[in-house]
Amino acid sequence: MKIIAYGIRDDEQPYLEQWSQQQGIEVKAVKELLDDQTVDLAKGYDGAVVYQQKPYTATVLDRLAENGVTNLSLRNVGVDNVDADAVKRNGFKVTNVPAYSPEAIAELTVTQLMRLLRRTPTFDRKQANGDLTWAPDIADELNKMTVGVVATGRIGRAAMKIYQGFGAKVIAYDVFHNPELEKQGIYVDTLEDLYAQADVISLHAPATKDNNKMLNDEAFAKMKDHVWILNPARGALIDTDALIRALDSGKVAGAALDVYEDEVGIFNTDFGSFDAIPDERLKNLMKRENVLITPHIAFYTKTAVKNMVQYALNNNKQLIETGQAENEVAF
Ligand code: COI
Repeated sequence: MKIIAYGIRDDEQPYLEQWSQQQGIEVKAVKELLDDQTVDLAKGYDGAVVYQQKPYTATVLDRLAENGVTNLSLRNVGVDNVDADAVKRNGFKVTNVPAYSPEAIAELTVTQLMRLLRRTPTFDRKQANGDLTWAPDIADELNKMTVGVVATGRIGRAAMKIYQGFGAKVIAYDVFHNPELEKQGIYVDTLEDLYAQADVISLHAPATKDNNKMLNDEAFAKMKDHVWILNPARGALIDTDALIRALDSGKVAGAALDVYEDEVGIFNTDFGSFDAIPDERLKNLMKRENVLITPHIAFYTKTAVKNMVQYALNNNKQLIETGQAENEVAF
């Protein structure tokens, strides 16, 4: 059995080598992402392990299938960038890693919320200028707040636990109800109910065609004044222009975004200076002290990266050996 792994970063390499040695399976690691320039490298392999934020296009998937590779294992959870028609047309088997570390994402989300509530970005700036005063940057307390969690999958549930640890009241909205949470009476019936009650909105939903820009002008209008918005999930969930308007009006007190609508080609790139970042809207957000932007790094911990690499390789091996895998994604 031979597997090719695309887009392997230096921090992933040791985990890949460890797996390959332990399993006695050849894994060819290439630094480049899977695209129309690199797809032919897969010829002769039984499966491909991939991770990338840019799209897996129909052209690339058709070509990969022509090269005889239809076992595709993603090292991440989201599959919104995979061309579903090309998957079906070519009979691809696709796996993801649904739980490499939900806690990693939850921990950064709550860290950023606490930074916002305690105004630490402002105190950092003031202190760097020798200003050790308090006012006017008086904080808010999470234990006095209601947090509305949108989507109660693994990441949403991990975040909930932390919010509850801080003493916050947690409510949630999801089409699918987790039986345990149902017993606790955590669910509200509609998003409108969540918007009306929440002081903090924590988004943990995958991107689908139904929830594109779900936080738009209309949604913001239904929220409490001075609501805090957290999005470690997908940029497509928020209409960025509407968010900017809601920040300008003070409707939204602040936001922590680990994802951004137009992040592809921008996040995980070094532009050399702030001015050189080629996205004025993103820079508008980054300049605000009540908006914390991180470049899709909520997942980026040692535990998560090890699990992403090794679980994806396990999935690919299972697909090659048996034609099915526990983490197969239905398209
Ligand atoms: C995912 O797992 O889908 C993520 O969003 C994290 C990714 C950047 C590795």
